[in-house]
Amino acid sequence: MDSSILVFDSGSGGLTVAAEIKNKIPNIRLSYVSDSGFFPYGKKPHDILKKRILDVISKASSVSQPDIIVIACNTASTIALDLLRAKLNIPIVGVVPAIKPAASLSKSKVVMVLGTNTTVNSNYVKMLITDFAIGCKVLVEDSEALVLASEQKLLGNAFDPDIVTQEIKRIFNNPNALHTDVLVLACTHFPLINTEIKNALPRHITVIDSGLAIANRICSLLKVERQVCDQKLDSKATFYTTGNVDSEQAKKRKIEALLQCSVIFKQLSL
Ligand code: DGL
Repeated sequence: MDSSILVFDSGSGGLTVAAEIKNKIPNIRLSYVSDSGFFPYGKKPHDILKKRILDVISKASSVSQPDIIVIACNTASTIALDLLRAKLNIPIVGVVPAIKPAASLSKSKVVMVLGTNTTVNSNYVKMLITDFAIGCKVLVEDSEALVLASEQKLLGNAFDPDIVTQEIKRIFNNPNALHTDVLVLACTHFPLINTEIKNALPRHITVIDSGLAIANRICSLLKVERQVCDQKLDSKATFYTTGNVDSEQAKKRKIEALLQCSVIFKQLSL
C-alpha cells in the first residue's frame, strides 16, 4: 500500500510544497487541505489561529488518515507546531524559514527573510536566527500583498505582475537591504510567484525556499528513494477546502499542472 500524506496550508501556498513531494514520490497518496474559509492567516491573533489550525488539521486527518502530516505554512508552523505535536498522534513535519542554508550560502553575510507578519516576528524565527545565522545580519520583512497576489495568479484572472514589482521595490528600498545577497521565501505562497519576484530583484540576489528540503525529509521518513514513474497522471489527489469548493475548482487546471496528477475537490466542514 502506498504511503499517504496530508499537506496543510491556510490557502493554496502549500501546493508548492506538495508539488515538490509529489515530484519525488509520484505514487504517494496526497490529500491537501486549504483553510481558505479563514484565509489569510498572516495578521490574525495567535490564540485564535492556534485553535483553528488544530481543529482543521484534526478534522482533515480523521477524514484522510495520513501516515504523515506536513504543515506547509510557515505561519502555522512557527506558532502551532508544539501544540499539534502534543495533540496529534501522527508524525508532523513543519515548514519553517530556510535561515540556516541562507546564512551559509550568503557571501555578503546579509540575508533577508520575507514572510507573513506573524512568521517574521515569531519567537521561532528569532530562535532560528540566534542559533543558525551566527555572524550574519538577518533582515525581516512581511508582505500580505504578495500572499494575495500569489492566490490571484493561481486563479488566473486579475493577477497583475506589477504588484509584485512594486512590493519588491518597496521592500528593497530600505538602505539596510543594499547588501542582501540571499532572499528567503518564508511563506509557501511565494514560490507561486517566483518568476515575478526574481524578475523584480537585483540580479545578484539568490532566492531560496524550503520546498525541496521538506520533500527530502518526507522521503527519509518514509524510507523511499526518489521514485521513477511514467504514469504520474494516473494518480489522484484530494483537495479539501474549508471555503468555497467552486472557487477552488476554478484553479483546477493550474493545481493539476503543479501536482502533475488529477485532483478532486471536496468540502471540509468543521
Ligand atoms: N502560506 C502561508 C505561510 O507559509 C501564509 C499565508 C497566509 O497569510 O495565510 O506562511
